[in-house]
Amino acid sequence: MNRTRIVSRLPELLNAEKRRFWTRKAVERARARRHGQRGAQVARGAVLTGSGTYVLGRGSRVKEDARIFVAAGATLRLGEGAAIGIRNIINVADSVTIGDRARLSWDCQILDTDFHAVLDDDGKPFPMTKAVVIGEHVLVGARAMILKGVTIGDGAVVAAGSVVTKDVPAHAIVAGNPARQIGHAADWR
Ligand SMILES: CC(C)(COP(=O)(O)OP(=O)(O)OC[C@H]1O[C@@H](n2cnc3c(N)ncnc32)[C@H](O)[C@@H]1OP(=O)(O)O)[C@@H](O)C(=O)NCCC(=O)NCCS
Repeated sequence: MNRTRIVSRLPELLNAEKRRFWTRKAVERARARRHGQRGAQVARGAVLTGSGTYVLGRGSRVKEDARIFVAAGATLRLGEGAAIGIRNIINVADSVTIGDRARLSWDCQILDTDFHAVLDDDGKPFPMTKAVVIGEHVLVGARAMILKGVTIGDGAVVAAGSVVTKDVPAHAIVAGNPARQIGHAADWR
């Protein structure tokens, strides 16, 4: 297609693009409704399993190929406008709460349980499962992992590839394995 032809077809191409966008949104909303969720969107390839409770807020989105398991009696809460990223893995044995407008990038994992009991020298198990809370408007970078018992304060930023094992203060920037504070974020866009 030459340049003049592309320019003359631009309105038509843009309309087709818009139509695809709105169709995709409608399909994703329908998929969320099949999971009993209104106003949320579940993208193609995302798998939501387990007999626990899902609470997906209005305008929230579970992106392509995410794998989520919520065990019986456990709860996953995804706040309004929040997003679970592409290929994220989230396992909920007790409770995972993700605040409004929080964003998980691609390939992140959240585990609120170790799955296996690790024993001390007296054969006593360490605590295996503990709720995870991610505050409002938190940004979690690609491939980050958030482990049991962690609370991340509002507005915090977790750097790519971090392994978060301890609580993160509001508006802190944390990075590394284990994640440590490297800075302060007034805001992020
Ligand atoms: C967190 C982040 C925003 C920080 O960026 P920044 O403020 O420009 O930070 P800098 O690159 O100046 O790094 C500051 C320090 O933190 C370290 N650091 C930064 N990111 C790190 C990471 N992911 N893991 C480990 N250390 C990291 C740097 O090595 C540097 O250490 P030094 O002071 O000892 O030299 C950025 O590193 C990041 O991870 N962005 C997320 C990218 C992403 O996943 N995007 C997905 C989009 S949806």
